[in-house]
Amino acid sequence: MKPLATITLALGLALAPALAQAGGGDDKDIIGKKWLISLGGKLYDNLWSALNIAPPKGRNPQYPAGADIPAADTWRCVACHGWDYRGREGQLKKLRNSPRFVSLRPLDGKTQADVARRIRARHPEFNRVLPPPMLNALAFFIARGQHDVTQVLDKTGRARGDVLPGKDIFEGVCISCHQADGKAYIEGEPGDRPALGWVTRYRPEQALHKIRNGVPGADMLSLRFLDMKQIADLLAYAQTLDPHPEEPSSSGD
Ligand code: HEC
Ligand code: HEC
Repeated sequence: MKPLATITLALGLALAPALAQAGGGDDKDIIGKKWLISLGGKLYDNLWSALNIAPPKGRNPQYPAGADIPAADTWRCVACHGWDYRGREGQLKKLRNSPRFVSLRPLDGKTQADVARRIRARHPEFNRVLPPPMLNALAFFIARGQHDVTQVLDKTGRARGDVLPGKDIFEGVCISCHQADGKAYIEGEPGDRPALGWVTRYRPEQALHKIRNGVPGADMLSLRFLDMKQIADLLAYAQTLDPHPEEPSSSGD
């Protein structure tokens, strides 16, 4: 009979490539640090809302002309690096194929210190608003908290998950805030329609990022305690929900 340690090691080795492939940084060294990583994910989404401070006035001069988004949003990391972290190699390409939309995927797996150094070097404009603990959380997210979106979504944006187990998670966790039909009012991003069925179908990379990291300044959970398969299941179920937002109630007054 093989000693237990050997079996565990063999199992560990067999699982390691699969987990590494799924991305999402489920390695040993981030266990117990998911809160910090999701804080970094929220800063990446919108550091101004996360820190509760006003963004600079006007448009970010670094932001490419011809890609039209609200001026305040041009100061968000996600505006140039994307909900899938791939810059113009990913979802942002539809907006504009600009060389300013740079992929951060090559930084996946680097050290936090290395990424923090790169942020300071390439983006001195954020030094004033990013005190060291916040810079470190952001760097930690980029180094260890990114996921490979293609492992969860296919080319058309459909989640590679199973609807039924996703429904169990949705009914257990999400409906207390979002309602069973996913139509409890949400503000979302400019242009979004307020229904989870709509957001998960038409903004799947954005929904995936927010599901894993939470939403800055809102009560949305960070679901990093679920593995990537469960997240894919959850998204697969949410994509079956009716995308049409709730009609405004006519008996309101
Ligand atoms: C207006 C667009 C824009 C915004 C907003 C933006 N970036 Fe960048 N980022 C770039 C560009 C362009 C480069 C490449 C710059 C260079 O090579 O000199 C870059 C480079 C980087 C790099 C270095 C990449 C490498 O391979 O070394 C990191 C890390 C980074 N950005 C993180 C961030 C973070 C974190 C934020 C938010 C706090 C952010 N960026 C906001 C456009 C942007
Ligand atoms: C404690 C209440 C709460 C729970 C539980 C909750 N959410 Fe949320 N969720 C929110 C809030 C608040 C927002 C932000 C709404 C807004 O933008 O106005 C949000 C936003 C979202 C978004 C982002 C929508 C966008 O703008 O892209 C997604 C996706 C989402 N939730 C999915 C889920 C899923 C899936 C679950 C269950 C696993 C869940 N939520 C559980 C409160 C909750």
